[in-house]
Formats: sequence, structure tokens, C-alpha cells
Amino acid sequence: MSTDSALRYEAALKVTGSAVFEAEVPAAGMLHAALVEAPIGCGDVLSVDATPASALPGFVAMISYREADALQPSPATALIRERAIHFAGQPVALVTAGTWLEARSAARAVRIATQARPAVTGMAQAIDQSFAPAMVGRFPAESRRGDAATALAEASLVVRHQYVTAVNNHHPMEPHAVVCWWEGGKAVVHTSTQAIFGTRAMIAHAFRMPTADIRVFSRFLGGGFGCKGQLWWPWMFWAMLAAKRTGRPVRLELTRAQMFSLIGRRQQTVQDLALGFGADGRLTGIDHRVVAQTSTHADYSDATAVYSRWLYACPNVTTTHRLVRTNEPHPVPMRAPGTAPGTFALESAFDEAAERLGIDPVELRVRNFADHDQEAGRPWSSNGLLECYRIGAERFGWSARPARGAAIDGRWRIGWGMASTLYPAIRQACKVRVNLAADASLRVQCGTQDMGSGTYTVLGQMAATALGVSMSQVTVELGDSWLPEGPFSGGSQVTASMAPAVEMATARLRATLARMAVADDRSPLSGQRIEDLDFQDGMIRSRTGNVGELLTDVLARGAADGLEAAGESAATQLQSLAVTSMGYGAVFVEVGVDPELGEIRVRRVCGAFAAGRILNPRLAKSQYVGGLIGGIGMALHEMTVTDRASGRILGDTFADYLIPVHADVPEFDITMVDEEDPHLPGSVKGIGMLGTAGIQAAIANAVFDAIGKRVRSLPIRIEHVIG
Ligand code: MOS
Repeated sequence: MSTDSALRYEAALKVTGSAVFEAEVPAAGMLHAALVEAPIGCGDVLSVDATPASALPGFVAMISYREADALQPSPATALIRERAIHFAGQPVALVTAGTWLEARSAARAVRIATQARPAVTGMAQAIDQSFAPAMVGRFPAESRRGDAATALAEASLVVRHQYVTAVNNHHPMEPHAVVCWWEGGKAVVHTSTQAIFGTRAMIAHAFRMPTADIRVFSRFLGGGFGCKGQLWWPWMFWAMLAAKRTGRPVRLELTRAQMFSLIGRRQQTVQDLALGFGADGRLTGIDHRVVAQTSTHADYSDATAVYSRWLYACPNVTTTHRLVRTNEPHPVPMRAPGTAPGTFALESAFDEAAERLGIDPVELRVRNFADHDQEAGRPWSSNGLLECYRIGAERFGWSARPARGAAIDGRWRIGWGMASTLYPAIRQACKVRVNLAADASLRVQCGTQDMGSGTYTVLGQMAATALGVSMSQVTVELGDSWLPEGPFSGGSQVTASMAPAVEMATARLRATLARMAVADDRSPLSGQRIEDLDFQDGMIRSRTGNVGELLTDVLARGAADGLEAAGESAATQLQSLAVTSMGYGAVFVEVGVDPELGEIRVRRVCGAFAAGRILNPRLAKSQYVGGLIGGIGMALHEMTVTDRASGRILGDTFADYLIPVHADVPEFDITMVDEEDPHLPGSVKGIGMLGTAGIQAAIANAVFDAIGKRVRSLPIRIEHVIG
């Protein structure tokens, strides 16, 4: 039976409100916690005095850096062990009280003495102290193949500009939260995390305890997008310290305003990009230099220019990354990290080159297609980009492209634009356990978490398909560190990581069942060849003998207590690969621009994506649409602003931080180009990040097509297009 496009496993639980999010976990005698925020953006804490707070109703205890002294030093504990203030709003203590409101009031009453130092509240202030990070994500920060400088000097056309992207914040619907308590010396932690096992490891390190004494739950998440990892840990540790000190469960939930400063951000970038072309429209040189913000307490860099090493054929490529420290919140990966800002620059410049060369933008990209990974000098495992251009252009109707500025609809100037997108396909280690009960119901277990993107569904679906049972017979258990260790949810890796492990576990079950059937003369399958057997519709069938037997009958005779099998897979070791694996896509956009009001509307989006085998087209489409909407937000709305005087985030509410709403979102036409990839287990590539990149440049290119204005900074706003 086909389980393609199985409905979302947890849909009914979520729409009926019966899915328990970790912040909702009840606990007897629970205390509520609130964070005390530093009033300065740079300096030291001299003292934290709870006296005025302790006089307020409900106050129970305060935890500050002094108690955190006991935690083992690591990057994850640095912010709560030290007196240094790195950014405005940095928590200096946590207060617990009987109710959430009492905790908030008590936190405000805590008296803090600080010694301020001058703060750096913008990149421009410290740009002369930029430095090169060692790595950008998994990649070297600098690269050089051929001689880009000479190629650019000799090119017939050079497009050289600066591109700027703003700080964005992740803002999952569900804020970060923890409900935690201690049982003897053991910790129970209910938290919203993209990395259950990373969380467990950091707790074990910080509290110097064995992982077996820690149980972390994260069964449902209301989104993550990259922010539910390490930057949350310090505040969670404080809640755990408070629970330890008071002997009571403690609940901490960040406020929406704190989601702007305490859990990471997409870093601001300033990118200098030069592309050189020959008269034939072939790329001869790329020089892509990125400067980006990091905090004063740690280094983080997106792999922003890295995608310029891969996307097109070009013999001469130089890329560099530099970081500037500011007293602002620390950046972390945010959906399509690196590739979203990086392709904004690259794909905007490509469009400009097409315009100046008089070559159609799609044709120019086809002409510069990279038929292998030129950076590593090895083949692609598969590459469907040309197919994406062809299908995307056809579905969009690109060949009927009107002359620039010619399409007008009332007050709207209509513009078309397109861009490419790409994202690496890699895997982490994963273990799963599959149990087939006597009634042929299936239980699939993995400790990984579901961010909301469909991990429950595809895990259940893969196991159900392999054993030929229906999804209604499948129970999936995730989000518990006592279950087999699974991947963190990041970098579009979870499905690809689980696939080989599920394949191994289910193959083991099938082998056992098949052996039981063919070796038993009471079975209709007795004497059949194992390699002729299929698992379908709750039965084992022989393809050649036209005989079959129900799984329940096989189990009743030989395994009345059911059968269990485990499977595991290893992480991708990038260095040792003989091929490079990427997902690709092409995004086509129609915008309307009202040049008098400065209003920009995305009217139509066609995306064609080639990302391996699609296990569940319904959920995959949902991922692409979600990513594209995020990309529209980055292109037209989202911008986190620091007040240069105080260092505080300005407008830390959803009234001020604009995100796309329904009225901003057009119809999406998504085509998924199915790929067989012999190098990837199950042909599975990730899709989550792929849809989030590319559309930013496609929108900017469409705005240019509509009104002839090239906007090289994101978000594109009224002031960029008006007049
Ligand atoms: Mo992600 S940005 O790897 O959640």
C-alpha cells in the first residue's frame, strides 16, 4: 500500500490541543521563574541584591552568577558564570516565585549595581577590528581557486557591488521554555529543543553528572528554525540550579521580547561581490567577501560566501569571511543559514550581469551550470538544477516575459525575477528501534525531536512502508532521551539521517519474518524463496508463487510476543566523500510594485526543486511553502534594529518586527523533481533549507524588472522603491 503523502501523524493531537508541549507539563509545587536583565550593554556586574525582591509576595529564591560558579566551565556556561555584560538585556540572575506574575515583579525589583564600559552597538563602529574566523560552519572560511583578481581585471564585463542583509530573528510560535526538577541526584528536564541529546550532553558537562542520570523530553515543538539549541542552555541551567536549590520543580518561559535577544539571530552581513564575465556570458571570476556581526563572547559565522564556490562553473574564485564583534546578541544558524544571504548577493549580481550582457537570466545560468563540484574537484552525487530551470520556467510562463517596465496592472508595475537555490545534503548518526506486535501494529522509536516539520510522520511512514502495514497501525515515539539516540534537528538532515537506520531495522524484521514463514510447513509460504517475498497490505506475499500469509498469522505461530529490531546509521564524513551532494532549486517570482506608495506585493511564486526522493509530497510541499514564506519575510519585512545609544533592541514585539501575514502570501506553485541518487541511502536529501534561499534575490530581481531600481539591501522596503 502506498503511504505517500500520509497525513501528518500528530495533526489530530495538535488541532485538538491534546499534544502536550513541554512548558505545559504539570508538576506539583511548581515555581515560576523570571530573568533579571542587565540595564547596560557592556561592562561588569558589581552586585545583585535580592533584598527588595524578597519583600514581595510569593518570592522564593534568586540564582545568579555566584551560584553558577559551581557549573563546569564551557562555552555553554560562560554567560552565567561570569560577571561580564556583553549585551543589553543579558540576564544577570533568575528569580523564582509562586506565580509567573510574582516572579516577573520580583525580577524587576532586584537591585543591580554595574560598572559600564563603552559599548559597540553597530558593526560600523568596530569594522577596523574585523577578524577572520577559522571556520564558517563546516567549511573553511577562506577559499581560493585560480586567480580571481586577474580574471576580474581581464573580464569583458565586471559586476561589482556591495550587498547588505539585516539581522533577523527566528521567532517560533512556541517560545523557549523549561519545566525541570530533580529526583534524588537525577534531573528531569522538559524543554523545547532542536537537540535533545546535545541538551543532555551539555547538562551532563555543566553539572558533572552521567548522562544516564538525565532525562530530557521534547515531544512537540512549536517551531525552531535554528534557535532552539545552545544559546538557550545557560538560562535553562539557571532554572535547573533554582530547582536544585529550592527542591521544587521550576518553570521558565522566555517572553516574546526576550526571543529577540537571548536565543540567537541571523547575523547582519555586508558582502562585497564581484563577478567577471567573458563576452560569451561565461563566468571568468568571482570575488565574494563577507563581513558579518558576532558577539563579544563567542565567534559565529554563517557559511555565506561558501555557496559561491559551488553554484556556477568558474575557474577563478576567491571567498573570504570576516567577523566584527559588537555588544549585541550572539548569532546562530537561522533557516537557510549562509545560503539565504549569500545567494541574495550572488543571484542579484547574476541578474544584473544578464541585463548588461543582454542574455536572458535563465539562459545565463544554464550557460554557467557547474557539471561537477569545482571546489573539491569531484562529481555531484546528483544534480537536478538544469531540470529545475526548465520546469520552473515552463510552469511560470517565463518565455512570455514582457519587456522590462511594460507590464502594468492599474497602480501596479509588474516585474518578473528568478534565482537559483542550493543546500548541502548530509547526515548525522541515528539509531532507531522498531517493534512489531502480534497484532501487526508497529511501534517506531527514536529519541530525536520533531520541530513541527513532519519527523513523526516520515519516520512512521518509512517503517510502515517497509513492513507493508498501514499508518493507522503505527505508533511513533520521539522526543525522549531514554529512546535510541537520534540526530539534532538542523541543517535539513533528520529525514536523511533516519532513512538508513529505519531501513536497517525494518530489513532485520523482514528477514526474521521471512525466515519464519518459509521455514514453516504450516505457512502457505513454506518453501518459497526469501528474495521473492514482498511485504504489502499486512501480508508477506510471494511474487512468483501467488501465495501469501498475513503478518499476524506468521507472528501468532512463531513470535506471539512480537518482534523487535534496532537499526543505526553513521554521520556523513565530508572529507572522505568521493562525491558532493546538494539539493537544488529555481524560484520564479512575480511582484507588483506601486512606485508612488512604495508598496511591494509578491503576486505569484513558482518553485522547482530537486532534492532527491520525496518521501511525502504533502509534507515536502509544506516545507517548501514555509521556507519560501520565510524568504519573503527576509526579502521584504524582517529587520531587527539595535538602538545605537542604549544597545537595546528597538521594537521587540510583533507589532514592530514585521513578518509576512496571510495578505503578504501568494499562491505557491511547487514542483518537486524526483531524483534517484545512487550515492545517498534511500536517495534522501534535505529540503527544509532549500526553499528558504533564492527567493530573496528573485524578489529583488523582480522589483528591478518592475521599476528599474536595483535594491541591494534586505529587507526591501518602501523607502527603497518610492519616488
Ligand atoms: Mo537550522 S537553521 O539548521 O534549524
